Amino acid sequence: MIECAVWWATPLPNEASHLSLLDPLEQGRHGNYRQEIDQRRFLTGRVLAKTVVGELLGLAPGEVEFDATCADCGKPHGPPRVTGASVTFSISHSGDRIGLAMADGVPVGLDVETATRRADDSLISYALSEAEAAALAGLEPAAKSTAFFTYWTRKEALMKATGRGLKIPLQGITLSPPGEPARLLESTDPALDPANARLTDLDPGDGYRAAVALLTDAEPKVTERWWTPPS
Ligand SMILES: CC(C)(COP(=O)(O)OP(=O)(O)OC[C@H]1O[C@@H](n2cnc3c(N)ncnc32)[C@H](O)[C@@H]1OP(=O)(O)O)[C@@H](O)C(=O)NCCC(=O)NCCS
Repeated sequence: MIECAVWWATPLPNEASHLSLLDPLEQGRHGNYRQEIDQRRFLTGRVLAKTVVGELLGLAPGEVEFDATCADCGKPHGPPRVTGASVTFSISHSGDRIGLAMADGVPVGLDVETATRRADDSLISYALSEAEAAALAGLEPAAKSTAFFTYWTRKEALMKATGRGLKIPLQGITLSPPGEPARLLESTDPALDPANARLTDLDPGDGYRAAVALLTDAEPKVTERWWTPPS
């Protein structure tokens, strides 16, 4: 059994008490976002992660440092990691939802998406294998959209758990249909082995779909809760 804790939050305001928790590289990224809501999603992910990781390590949030160096280009926009500790975590944001999934030493990937967008044919053929697309055929638009974003979040959670994200071809992995327990059936990418990948659907609220992936052969025990920042 492997435990995984998930926290959900809504965007924090751009206030000095939160901004002061970002290091200079994070402040640079925050400042580069043109839209205020993108700044707030980024800020919330980092404040949430620093608070929760800090509680685990016995540190104040401002003392927690992440290394987010991108393995491809060296810029600080890769998956954040805590140096010198075994805790692993993944951040995701979409619309008014910011999520954090945390495990101990096991690669973890979280994805949340607003599921109100229409799943049109071009999106379906971009993201799904033929067998997966066939499972959506004949569904009404609302049910099709829900089923599509169920597939999408499960796939992206797996890809994020590898640390390579969308560099893994979406069509190269095949999942169980949305009405069945979430499971990786096949993968053409060696980073994802069905025997070593566990998926759990999450509940971020109406209008959203989310999933968490753990790269392990142990059964996951996932708990979800809402986070409110300490006042
Ligand atoms: C990571 C990725 C899947 C983001 O997907 P998204 O749906 O837009 O965004 P999400 O909100 O779910 O996830 C973003 C978070 O994932 C994390 N992340 C970044 N790169 C990641 C990666 N390669 N693997 C796993 N997680 C990653 C970060 O925490 C990021 O949030 P933050 O920067 O605000 O802390 C996508 O951007 C990707 O695949 N990137 C890597 C490949 C790439 O394009 N590299 C080009 C740079 S050289």
